[in-house]
Amino acid sequence: MTILKIARMGHPVLRTPAKLVEDPKDLEIRRLINDMVETMEDANGAGLAAPQVHIPLRIVMFHVPSERSEEGAVPLTVLMNPVIEPVGDDKNEGIEGCLSLPGMAGKVSRYTSIKYSGLDLDGKPIEREATGFHARVVQHECDHLDGILYPQRMDDLSSFGYVEELQKALKD
Ligand code: NI
Repeated sequence: MTILKIARMGHPVLRTPAKLVEDPKDLEIRRLINDMVETMEDANGAGLAAPQVHIPLRIVMFHVPSERSEEGAVPLTVLMNPVIEPVGDDKNEGIEGCLSLPGMAGKVSRYTSIKYSGLDLDGKPIEREATGFHARVVQHECDHLDGILYPQRMDDLSSFGYVEELQKALKD
């Protein structure tokens, strides 16, 4: 397995809509996913999308550790060709970061509750409902597939900044 280079905001691959995975069982796809898992773990990320490693395909992965979620942990999930549907109109705000904007964070409004579906690692259909941080991470990762980064979802850019500074400000 290989740790892949992560594209940073400004790279065109991050603003290009990604293409559908045509053959989820392709060995090249399996190799890419294995490398993405290793890259995400190495970078300590909660999620990663293929465009972030310079591959414009509709593949995301994420996990939710128990300390980030009131609904319980979600094990590492790989989704190909994901589709999201909001459940209701409720949104809530939360702080997000992204491996493509290292050291930065901002407050983003997302649907509180969603349904999502896609194909898993073996090409089998997955269908789930998600709320809270789980719903947030799925919306964030799937945005990458449409060429959208979280600052583009922010209503108020005044909460956008360097994590170190935001944490200092919280302490004061
Ligand atoms: Ni991201």
